[in-house]
Amino acid sequence: MKEVSGFSKRSKEEKITWLTSHFFKSPDKASAVLKQYWNEDIKLQQLHDEFSENTLSNYYLPFGVAPNFKINNAFYAIPMVTEESSVVAAACKAAKFWKDKGGFKAEVLGTTKSGQVHFLYKGSYPELQAFFQQIKTQLWNSTASLTQNMRKRGGGLTRMELVDKTTALENYYQLDCDFETADAMGANFINSCLEQIAKTFKGLAMEDETLSETPEIIMSILSNYVPKCLVRAEVNCSINDFFPDKDTSQNFARKFVEAVKIARVVIERAVTHNKGIMNGIDAVILATGNDFRAIEACAQAYACRSGQYSSLTQAEIQGDQFRFWIEIPLALGTVGGLTRLHPMVTFALELLQNPTAKELMQIVAVVGLAQNFAAIGSLVTTGIQEGHMKMHLNNILNQFEATAEERKQITLHFKSHTVSYRSVLDQLEKIRK
Ligand code: MEV
Repeated sequence: MKEVSGFSKRSKEEKITWLTSHFFKSPDKASAVLKQYWNEDIKLQQLHDEFSENTLSNYYLPFGVAPNFKINNAFYAIPMVTEESSVVAAACKAAKFWKDKGGFKAEVLGTTKSGQVHFLYKGSYPELQAFFQQIKTQLWNSTASLTQNMRKRGGGLTRMELVDKTTALENYYQLDCDFETADAMGANFINSCLEQIAKTFKGLAMEDETLSETPEIIMSILSNYVPKCLVRAEVNCSINDFFPDKDTSQNFARKFVEAVKIARVVIERAVTHNKGIMNGIDAVILATGNDFRAIEACAQAYACRSGQYSSLTQAEIQGDQFRFWIEIPLALGTVGGLTRLHPMVTFALELLQNPTAKELMQIVAVVGLAQNFAAIGSLVTTGIQEGHMKMHLNNILNQFEATAEERKQITLHFKSHTVSYRSVLDQLEKIRK
């Protein structure tokens, strides 16, 4: 029987025994795979077990660092968690290139987040509107104890509107609210406020005599679409500054801008282009314990804001100046959540000099821009495979536990040959014979 009841109540050992005996040909081997990743430090293991449910083991991802990022005239060594070879190397390359050209400039354009109480109302809009105006202060005040601490930190509930959505869906309205959440991502804060607003709204509607119908609350939840929580990062230099040779340099700048324009107008390129940006962004999001699903969902929706999915970055040449920038919504936190719970997250934040949420928004946007710069830079010159294949070669050599001497010989060979899994293996076999 591959079905189970009461699974979550079993001990970790019992869960592993049940799973490995039901789903694996060799249960002992499967169980050993899981257990080799258990941490000897029982307390540390317990901490990780408790982040989630039905935890069996730990899943490692490389934690790397990209130094030399000059952002608004300060230097950062940026932590990045990614399994994709060449992402960190590409970020390092871009950081090194731009640090001698004034570095990256970044600016937070807004920090407002929002959430909605979604409800149905079958009566008329004017009567609902009149009711809302009458109770708005009460709705607002009902969140006072929830927002007290946040208000002390400069945040809180900042706007509440009734929105008529009946052209989109029959009888559908929203209580649309804005929030400032200081250095917290604020999901729990926003959701608690919205649930309280919904509760107060429902209670007051039940007692009211002006409404012809009773509103029906469907749900209350933050929106991960945060176009007003926006950051902008930029680099610029002379079109003659890319390479020592003037023609090569200008040609590079021109092709680079064309490549970005292509990603602005066709979805086939835009998705891959933005994926490359998210290679960098997600890596910092993971390292700093932020919610990469929220960041991804929002970034992709933002990329469609004009009605057409488009590039998150833009580039232009004006006179002899090259300019390249990104504008991206990022709802980030540097307090709460995993920040003080996960030791690696605490480490990552300290490495970044314990940034505010605004500073982290700037850092993350810069890494996205840097990543995109490195990718397009390769695409319009050598092609992407050269760098990727170097890392690929390294991974294959690791897989076959190549010795230092084997590595030396093979690296030399592949300086003038194309890397493929088969060709590396052939070469390795040749040496080993
Ligand atoms: C690979 O992970 C990302 C790239 O394909 C991005 C791009 O094409 O811009 C290199």
